[in-house]
Amino acid sequence: MPTIANITFPNRYLNAAGCWCTTANELIDLQTSESGGIVSKSCTEKPRDGNVQPRLHLEDTLSINSTGLANLGVNFYAAFGSALMAVPKTTKKPYIVSVAGVEHGENVRIVQTLREPEYACGIDLIELNLSCPNVAGKPQVGYDFEATRDVLRLVFESDDGNGPPLGVKLPPYFDQSHFKHIAEVLSDFTGKGAGGVGYRGHGLSFATCINSLGNGMVYTHHTDKGDNAYQTAIAPNRGFGGVGGSVIKPFGLSNVAALHAELPYLPLIGCGGIASASDADEYAHAGASLMQIGTALMKEGVGVFERLHKEESVKL
Ligand code: DHB
Repeated sequence: MPTIANITFPNRYLNAAGCWCTTANELIDLQTSESGGIVSKSCTEKPRDGNVQPRLHLEDTLSINSTGLANLGVNFYAAFGSALMAVPKTTKKPYIVSVAGVEHGENVRIVQTLREPEYACGIDLIELNLSCPNVAGKPQVGYDFEATRDVLRLVFESDDGNGPPLGVKLPPYFDQSHFKHIAEVLSDFTGKGAGGVGYRGHGLSFATCINSLGNGMVYTHHTDKGDNAYQTAIAPNRGFGGVGGSVIKPFGLSNVAALHAELPYLPLIGCGGIASASDADEYAHAGASLMQIGTALMKEGVGVFERLHKEESVKL
C-alpha cells in the first residue's frame, strides 16, 4: 500500500483538489467511495463564492475551469477532518487539506490554523497549492522560483514538527531548465538537499505533479447564434481557465519523470489526465506512487474509483 510520511493509503487513487470536494456532501461521497483518500478543495482563510458561472466545462478529452477558489474557508475543512475521526478504523482513509492562500502571509496563517492541536489530529497531510491559475491579478506562485522558495521558507520556519506533514502541488513546467530549478528549490526543504534551511519540522513530504495547464481557452459553437456563433465555454476571465483531462497527460508524465529523476527520494503524486488503470500505470512508471483523478471524476462521479479498481483486477 502506498505511503507518504508514514501515512498509509488503502489504494493509490485520490481525487484531485477541486474535484468533488468543496461541500460536506461531496466530501462524504469521497469518504464512502472506493477512493484511497480524500483531498479537500483548496481553501483560503475566509469562505469565497468564486467566479461567475458557467465556470466549469467538460468534454471527452478535456476540462476547463475557472472556479476562482470557491471554498468554505479553512475552518470548515479543518473541522471536517475532526468529524472524520468518528469514521470506523476499517473504512477510515487519509484526509489531505489543500491550501491556496492568495498571498504568502495567508498561506502561513492557513497552515498555522491546520497545525492547531484541535485540528491537526484529524488531518493527515497538507497540500500547498502553488498553482492556482484563476485568481485575477495573482500569478501562479510555482512559476516564480524565488517566491516559491520564500513561501516554503515561511511555512517550514513556522513548523514545530507537531502539525501534519506538508507537500506542494506544482504547475506544469515546460522547459528542462525549469525542471532543474524547481527541483533545486524543493531540495532545500526535503532535508536531503544541499541548501538546507534549518527548519524544525518534517520538511517537504511530497509533490503533486501537475495542476491544470493554466490559461487555456475552449470555444463552443452555436450555429443558431449568428455573429456570436463562437462563445467561450466558461464565462469568467474572458474564457481563460485551467485545462485538465487526457489532453494534458503527456505533460503530467514528463513533469513526474523529470522531478523523479532530480529528487528520487521525494514521494510524488501523479495528476493530469488519469482516467484508466493503464494511465495510472504510466504515471507509476514515471515515478508517482499515488494518483489524483480530476476530470474523469467530474465526468463520472465517485463511481470512477470503483471502475479503476475493476480495471486493475481485470489486468491481474
Ligand atoms: C482553481 C482552479 C484550478 O485549476 C486550480 O488548479 C486551482 C484552483 C480555482 O479556480 O479554484
